[in-house]
Amino acid sequence: MRISLLAYSLVLSAGIALSADMPSLVKSKGCTSCHDVSKSKVGPPFKVIAKEYKGKSDAVQTLVQSMTGGSVGKWQGLAQKYGISVTAFYMPRQPVSKEEAEKIARWILSLE
Ligand code: HEC
Repeated sequence: MRISLLAYSLVLSAGIALSADMPSLVKSKGCTSCHDVSKSKVGPPFKVIAKEYKGKSDAVQTLVQSMTGGSVGKWQGLAQKYGISVTAFYMPRQPVSKEEAEKIARWILSLE
């Protein structure tokens, strides 16, 4: 268990270090049906989420809360601010643990 977890996080961080490609965790959780790294889909692109939250001290916590608890209505105004389209009013709670959500939040915030 310990070893497989370690191997898993090594693979994940290697993936992050090598490219801006989505980590397999994000792909395997179905996020891509609503999000792309840089294109508008149903939800905001991950790079635009990064722009909005980068540098805020509670950024990781806020994004973890949105992934594990859902998010409603935040991006209607933000979409206008960034000139993107967000076609759904809310994101339902996602099937990720708090630890997984934290990894994903850190990845999102690392995007340029
Ligand atoms: C059914 C479509 C859908 C799926 C699936 C989905 N999202 Fe979202 N996501 C949205 C929408 C719509 C918003 C904007 C919500 C809002 O306006 O409050 C959003 C917002 C977000 C935000 C910003 C939250 C905030 O606080 O500003 C993050 C981060 C995010 N999604 C990550 C993910 C990740 C990671 C996954 C996969 C585990 C995922 N989403 C799966 C539709 C989706």
